[in-house]
Amino acid sequence: MARHAPATGIGVVGAGYVGLTTAACLAHLGHDVVCMDTDRSKIAQLRAGDVPVREPGLDELVYEGTGVGHQRAGAARLSFTPDIESLAGCGMVVLCLPTPMDDYGDPDTSAVDSVAHQLASLLPANAVLVNKSTVPVGSTHRAERLLGRSDVAAVSNPEFLREGHAVEDFLRPARIVIGASDVEASAIVERMYDGVDAPIVRTDPVSAELAKYACNAFLAVKLSYTNLLSALCEQVGGEIGEVARIMALDDRIGAAFLRPGPGWGGSCLPKDTMALLRTGRRAGLDFGLVRAAIDVNAQQLDRVVRDVRRAVTGEESGRIAGHRIGLLGLTFKAGTADLRDSPALAVAAALAREGAALTGYDPEVPSERQQAVAEVRLVDDPYQVAKGASAVVLLTEWPEFAELDWSVIGAAANNPVVVDTRGVLGHPDTEQPGIERIALGDGMHR
Ligand SMILES: NC(=O)c1ccc[n+]([C@@H]2O[C@H](COP(=O)([O-])OP(=O)(O)OC[C@H]3O[C@@H](n4cnc5c(N)ncnc54)[C@H](O)[C@@H]3O)[C@@H](O)[C@H]2O)c1
Repeated sequence: MARHAPATGIGVVGAGYVGLTTAACLAHLGHDVVCMDTDRSKIAQLRAGDVPVREPGLDELVYEGTGVGHQRAGAARLSFTPDIESLAGCGMVVLCLPTPMDDYGDPDTSAVDSVAHQLASLLPANAVLVNKSTVPVGSTHRAERLLGRSDVAAVSNPEFLREGHAVEDFLRPARIVIGASDVEASAIVERMYDGVDAPIVRTDPVSAELAKYACNAFLAVKLSYTNLLSALCEQVGGEIGEVARIMALDDRIGAAFLRPGPGWGGSCLPKDTMALLRTGRRAGLDFGLVRAAIDVNAQQLDRVVRDVRRAVTGEESGRIAGHRIGLLGLTFKAGTADLRDSPALAVAAALAREGAALTGYDPEVPSERQQAVAEVRLVDDPYQVAKGASAVVLLTEWPEFAELDWSVIGAAANNPVVVDTRGVLGHPDTEQPGIERIALGDGMHR
């Protein structure tokens, strides 16, 4: 199939964490990019120069692309549209669409399917459809069927960026994975990344699709393993930080994802572990390992709630109804404003169900976002969460929490106890004047 390489003229569909980062970075690499999203308010915001996704360096790249503040609006390489018809001239379209979990635990690919269907009649001859959304095995072939165009190839190009590091990860990724049956289409996608220094893995579409799920499920297993070890430490008198420090020095294991926490969450790991489990089941394979990681994650929530009950009442089964509890951190991890599937909110919901009155602070969730967090009264000063509290629970690993004056928090609380689910306050032996500390995985001081 003869193609010409579209060095410019790229459409990006979806202006969320992945799409907006992709669009801004591709413009930065020198491409002309039209970013499309059905959310008209988001497009209006972007056109007005307001960047709705909080990621380090993203504002600057969007302004650089659109020309805002760069005195070259006439030469803008990046534009935004709510209309898919605006992508009609694009030789390459990159899908960055949501694939949330459906009621059965499978990825809901309706957005990807419907956009592929709409693009079928819009794309110019020899165009390439690139999918960055995390989609089930077989989706690249399915997109080709939906396109129904022998001259248009679909390519799987899974995205591995981390929220909080999105721009950095896009421009300096550990690898770029290109899964294509069509060699020319694969080369065109590779050229899209000219200027990015990273190993390119050219592979078949199914391996590319599967690799994304394989990575996320592996990380979830590693986190659940750490959380279970942390529970074991509490029972047998060890300290998870020490165990993890020793494990991390083995480079076959690696240091990342060895910190205990209130459970893993976010918009990817829960849906991607479930998707792998279900893909395995359909193929006649029981991914018991992944199912166990999901089960351990649910148990971790119970363990944190039990620790909070103990902090408030002195007993693991004590009643917390009517008690005021302060929460530090609400996002699913530090470095992002994203609340989707946040374990901190799962803890909050569990405590609220038991009748606790919750006050919360998060540097990325100001009180103006109150409607996003029903169970928690938001405040804009971390010290306020301690006022009259029967316990303070630290739920997100924001580094600034380590810098708080914990003696002030202890003095403001009714009961100066903090449940540190993230190990932010350092090794349990470190002095924290004015407060008592209950740290996950600390079997030495329980
Ligand atoms: N967020 C991450 O850290 C991350 C990392 C790697 C991969 N992914 C995957 O990338 C995909 C996108 O994730 P995200 O976090 O960027 O999602 P997101 O929810 O932040 O953004 C998705 C955007 O798509 C828009 N949209 C929905 N339907 C549309 C349609 N039919 N046409 C045009 N626009 C539409 C939404 O309005 C939204 O702005 C998912 O499959 C996700 O699993 C996410």
